Amino acid sequence: MYRTKTCGELRKEDVNKEVTLSGWVQKTRKLGGMIFIDLRDRYGITQLFFNKKINAILCDEAEKIGREWVIQVKGLVSERSNKNPNIPTGDIEIIVSELNVLNPSEVPPFTIETDSDGGDDIRMKYRYIDLRRSVVRSNLELRHRMAFAARSYLNDLGFLEVETPVLVASTPEGARDFVVPSRMNPGEFYALPQSPQLFKQLLMVSGFDRYFQIVKCFRDEDLRADRQPEFTQIDCEMSFVEQEDILGIFEGLVKYLFKKEKGIELPDFPRLPYSDAMRLYGSDKPDTRFGMTFVELKDLTEGKGFSIFDNAEYVGAICVKGGAAYTRKQIDELVEFVKRPQVGASGLVYVKVDNDGYKSSVDKFYSPDDLKLWTDRASARPGDLLLILCGKTEKTQRQLGDLRLEIGSRLNLRDKDKFSCLWVTDFPLLEYDEEEGRYFAKHHPFTSPNVDDIPMLDSSPGEVRATAYDVVINGVEIGGGSIRIHNSELQEKMFAILGFSREQADAQFGFLMNAFRYGAPPHGGIAFGLDRLVSIFAGLDSIRDCIAFPKNNSGRDVMMDAPSALAQEQLNELRISLSK
Ligand code: AMO
Repeated sequence: MYRTKTCGELRKEDVNKEVTLSGWVQKTRKLGGMIFIDLRDRYGITQLFFNKKINAILCDEAEKIGREWVIQVKGLVSERSNKNPNIPTGDIEIIVSELNVLNPSEVPPFTIETDSDGGDDIRMKYRYIDLRRSVVRSNLELRHRMAFAARSYLNDLGFLEVETPVLVASTPEGARDFVVPSRMNPGEFYALPQSPQLFKQLLMVSGFDRYFQIVKCFRDEDLRADRQPEFTQIDCEMSFVEQEDILGIFEGLVKYLFKKEKGIELPDFPRLPYSDAMRLYGSDKPDTRFGMTFVELKDLTEGKGFSIFDNAEYVGAICVKGGAAYTRKQIDELVEFVKRPQVGASGLVYVKVDNDGYKSSVDKFYSPDDLKLWTDRASARPGDLLLILCGKTEKTQRQLGDLRLEIGSRLNLRDKDKFSCLWVTDFPLLEYDEEEGRYFAKHHPFTSPNVDDIPMLDSSPGEVRATAYDVVINGVEIGGGSIRIHNSELQEKMFAILGFSREQADAQFGFLMNAFRYGAPPHGGIAFGLDRLVSIFAGLDSIRDCIAFPKNNSGRDVMMDAPSALAQEQLNELRISLSK
């Protein structure tokens, strides 16, 4: 038997028991004729004790052991004189009577401690060693528990987990596909699914009624801290439901996870229509851990000779509590921030409110009485600061949203231990792309328009609301879904609005429209990003830290060195010729 106990479970009550442990050597310390080894496994760390006076040969053997060697020891649990209150096994140690080296190890390329000395690249190259660090391991343990709890919640409600294919057909909407060449069908390609969307809808036509799947999805998009090319969804679909049914069940899932994992009873999630989210926060995924909502000032700024405001479609402000104390340098930093290409504003106007009046970058154009109207509307008090941006409405709202988040971070208002959840609802059905000169589905082409807005589909498609909703936690889109179109004529109409010819729609989605002719029930669903959900629970800055083997920011697996070139033979077999 390799072990009778793990390295995390022995306590004071176990003193005088004979045990066998196996694990990795975390650290060796020598103290005169004594050697202490910290032995680690998944469950914890136990101190091993060797004493020259008791067994000189064993002590010599122990001296040769290096970091990360895999060893087995037998010995007696004894109470430590020098206790370590920082670890659960800190009251005891093992007086070793037998030592077996199971496998020596080369010196690892970085230290396996909470704060490792290894940089990102080296840790990713040796990810299997990095995963021995307890911080990384605990993220994966959390991920396991959350996936397990989600399965159990959904199973209890009668959801069936059904696997859907990974080799599918490429579809033109959404992000770019990853494609896989088919040897048996030369010149033809599979795509990896961006989500199981079509399959889950077909399962509803098949009568499965309540489906879920914890499933890998693949999207060839630019990577960010909250995006990986392959990621995991908790993907769900239900029949005979309306939006309210779905929001109820899946708000329940999020609440269940918070209660189970964090012991937090979340209040009911507020609902915020998309238009209000943009108007108040400049984002369809607002961070509602703090207020600082927008105040519109256009009507109060007009006709005073300041042409930049006069010519702008929108003038909006945020009120920074206590911000009047900002120095010139701090204000300049904010101006630089909004001018960064990622934000894209051309400038920033400020008004400082103090007991003597106002100080502003537009004093020349506006009297104290004018500025009072602005600051009153923003409920600014002495000591506060108004930051104002102007321009095209949506663009400026997004910029002001970025500024709001930046200020929120600077003022430490974005506490990782605080959780603020909400539903964003009533998304627009369509989004117009100026470059392509056509509408795109904001969510996906299978999303049902709001029934009240269907008459506008022909006259003003851009104003039609979708029956679509997102769950947002702390400014992160954790999940999204919609009620689907289940009528083949409406689906055909939607494809026509999206610029598909009948033939194109038939070629790409004929199977779905056909299926809808064979008794499709009303249905809808949602998918959660598991990686994002776990990162929020763990307070991580990047979803990479809760993925066992993630890709780097260039989409590479630096450990396997993927993607990689193929041998000519393999290319020939796939009939692929690479242009130089
Ligand atoms: P959507 O595209 O909104 O909807 O995706 C659902 C959720 O998946 C997560 N997510 C990602 N996580 C990590 N890396 C990525 N690249 C990534 N892309 C998306 C987000 C997002 O909210 N089929 C629809 C769902 C439906 O309508 O039921 C869909 O995939 O948390």
